[in-house]
Parts: sequence; structure tokens; C-alpha cells
Amino acid sequence: MTCKDQPVADCPENAIRRDVSADVVWHDASATWPLLGGRRIGLMGDVHGDRNHIFRAANMFGRRGIRVIIQLGDFGMIWPRRNWPIDLNALDVFLGDQDQTLLFVDGNHEDHPLLETFPVSSTGIRWVGERIGHLPRGYRAVFSNGIRLAALGGANSIDRYRRLEGRDWWAQEQITLADLRVLGEEPVDVLLSHDVPLGVPSLDRHLASIRDFVPRQGIRYAERGRRMFHEGFVQVRPRLSLAGHYHWHVDETIEFETESESFATRVVVLDAQGASRGNCAILNLDDLSVEVIDVEGRPYLLDHLGVHR
Ligand SMILES: [Fe+2]
Ligand SMILES: [Fe+2]
Repeated sequence: MTCKDQPVADCPENAIRRDVSADVVWHDASATWPLLGGRRIGLMGDVHGDRNHIFRAANMFGRRGIRVIIQLGDFGMIWPRRNWPIDLNALDVFLGDQDQTLLFVDGNHEDHPLLETFPVSSTGIRWVGERIGHLPRGYRAVFSNGIRLAALGGANSIDRYRRLEGRDWWAQEQITLADLRVLGEEPVDVLLSHDVPLGVPSLDRHLASIRDFVPRQGIRYAERGRRMFHEGFVQVRPRLSLAGHYHWHVDETIEFETESESFATRVVVLDAQGASRGNCAILNLDDLSVEVIDVEGRPYLLDHLGVHR
């Protein structure tokens, strides 16, 4: 197999051709590849297959010299009854023109069976294009500066009971005990996910405010999924938790307690796609700082009460 047949990031020749002296290096199951563009990663919250938004965000990251983007679920570009291969290919070409790679964790709104038709590569990444890869649940990587990263996608749809299985809902959205076993219990610095741990006050206040408008069984189902995610979250005790799903921006540092220990985590939840929303962010791998921005790259801030402004 030549480099031509491999995803760009898996190809050693590509790595050699780049000036990687300032880059942090990403190690995963069997590969080491430079984190193209240095020490900063672009982050994107839910995008729900909104191609134009993804292009705008990738372009904005490109102007800032960012070449690796991680999307935090509800990617939605692989979706039935739409011409998804053409859309996906157009995004792949666009990313190639900008020398960028986009990796995503799965959300609830993905056609999981269709996604799973793409094989997982030897690096642990499921490439769905030359420049687009899915990070399966339990994926782990370590950067050359020692930062450890894991992914745990999936979440339960609060509106499951309005959806039809196989048309716009799939049982595989649910995090399973098998997923938690794959994730393991080794601590990480950064957890990439779609769902959010339990006990995040500003998110819980928001969810309480909309509770009366959602059918009870949907709430119970969604909460069951969040509890499952929380089990995985506690297993790996991240310093930084990056998520989406709730279409509501949150940025809080929380002290979590387990039976045996306590640990502090900064929980950053990105908003869904759209103008002037906290949908994007830049993660700096030197100090794990996160700058939340909108799709145009403008700062998106919360006030001291956690209220959007
Ligand atoms: Fe979503
Ligand atoms: Fe979601």
C-alpha cells in the first residue's frame, strides 16, 4: 500500500514533508503523526450536517493557522436520504485545500450503522474521507508533550419518542458498558465527548428551565444516557472535559467527588451551529487553555453568573 492509498495523517511520507519542529506530536494505537499546525486544535460543537457552517468554521480556523479540528458530535454529515457522499467529499476536498484534518466524536444524531460501515484503521481512527476521521468510543491518544486524550461519543436523544428507528434514530446512540470497558480507567487530561457529566450547575439550571416542555419519558431516557456517560467520565477523571449536545454554552470548573477521591474538571460545552453562538473554540495544548469563539472567530463570553452575553 502506498501513501496515496492512505489517509493523509497516517502517511509517514506526509509527516516527513512537513516542518514539524514546532508541532506537538499525536501518538495513538500504532501511529505517530504531527499535530499539523502546531500546538492548537480547533473545536466545533454540534453542526447537524450544516455544510456551510462547517466550511465557514474551518476557514476561520485556517486563517488562524489551525490545521486539526475536532468536532464534538452531532456531526450529521453521514445521514440517510441526503446526498451525503457528495457533501462529505466536498468537505474533504475543502479541508485538503486548506491542509486541514477534521476528527469527530459521534453524537446522538448520526446514522451509526452507516458510519460503522467505514473500517477503523490501525491507528484507531475510523477514516470516512482522506481528511475526515471518526474517533470511536474509547479512542485514546497521547501528545508528545505528555497530554493524554480520550474520546467517548454518544448520548441519548431527548426527543427519541418523536423519531423513527432507522430513519432518524438509532439505538447505537446509547453509550454501553462495553464502551466504558474500552475507555478504561487510566486518567486522561482531556476527554472529548458529546454528552456532559452530571452535576454541572449552569447546565442543570438551563435544563430545569425547559423541563416542563419535554415529555417525561424523553427526559428519563436522556438522563439515563447522561448517567452512563458520567460513569465513563469518572473512570478517566479528566482535567478538561469538552462536549456539545445541549446546544447551550457552558464553561465551569467543578469539583467532582467519588467514593475514593475528588478531582477538579473544567467542563466546556459548546453551543450548536449558527451565527454569533459559542460553537467554536481553540484548545491550546501547552496549558490546556480554551478560548471560546463564534464561527467568525469573535470571542464568545459568559458573565460571572454564567449567563451568555
Ligand atoms: Fe445536537
Ligand atoms: Fe446531541
